[in-house]
Amino acid sequence: FRSLADAKGSNAPLYLQLRKSIEEAVRDGVLTPGDALPSERDIAIKADISRVTVRKALQNLVEQGVLIQRHGSGTFVAPRIERVEQSLSRLTSFTEDMARRGKLVQSVWLERGLYVPSPQETMVLGLTANEMVARVNRLRFANEAAVAIERASIGASLLPNPEAVGSSLYAALAEHGNKPVRAVQRISAANLGPEDAQLLRVPPGAASLNIERVSYLPSGKVVEFTRSIYRGDTYDFVAELRLAE
Ligand code: GLP
Repeated sequence: FRSLADAKGSNAPLYLQLRKSIEEAVRDGVLTPGDALPSERDIAIKADISRVTVRKALQNLVEQGVLIQRHGSGTFVAPRIERVEQSLSRLTSFTEDMARRGKLVQSVWLERGLYVPSPQETMVLGLTANEMVARVNRLRFANEAAVAIERASIGASLLPNPEAVGSSLYAALAEHGNKPVRAVQRISAANLGPEDAQLLRVPPGAASLNIERVSYLPSGKVVEFTRSIYRGDTYDFVAELRLAE
């Protein structure tokens, strides 16, 4: 950060100069994923600029996904996003997919509980009159990087107690004897709106893959209607194709 003091006098606003010097340190490997940054105060003293300027630069880098902030413990270089190859021919859960790759799975709850269903939920899930819907909405992390937002809806008759879902929705469904055996999945490209972008720690407008999964019980009854938003720079979907007979 000392170089910033030398660079003073350049025309760019100071917070942009600081932002650039941190970006360069990350790009050149001087700072690596997981490294802690000095405190705002220390950076301000070293670079001879105000704390407000430091805060603005750090905030900006958090919004860009270069840094992450953990409440109470400071600012760190964001984990590197590793691309994941995901087969399109097997019905698996996020937890199973990540465990197979040796990645640490974490989820943050965005919403969970029983709700009056939307017309779309009633239709897709084939809910009976007055049946509530269990919503299990989560931000999902692989090796500490936020990779997906998943909004799952399940009929209350199949998941009466969404509050009791632990780290895996499919494990909770299996406990009720309601694990899906078949699913139809639709994948489309989109750009992230400001709120979802903030959750996934990428700039607004960044590319995403939106995945809609409708999964079924052996009886043919729909279990799950899930809308997932994956970071566009994270997933490669792979399917094996065979020559049509
Ligand atoms: C995948 C699917 C979701 C499904 C989820 C369950 O991510 N796209 O439709 O709800 O897995 O994952 P878990 O059992 O880890 O909660």
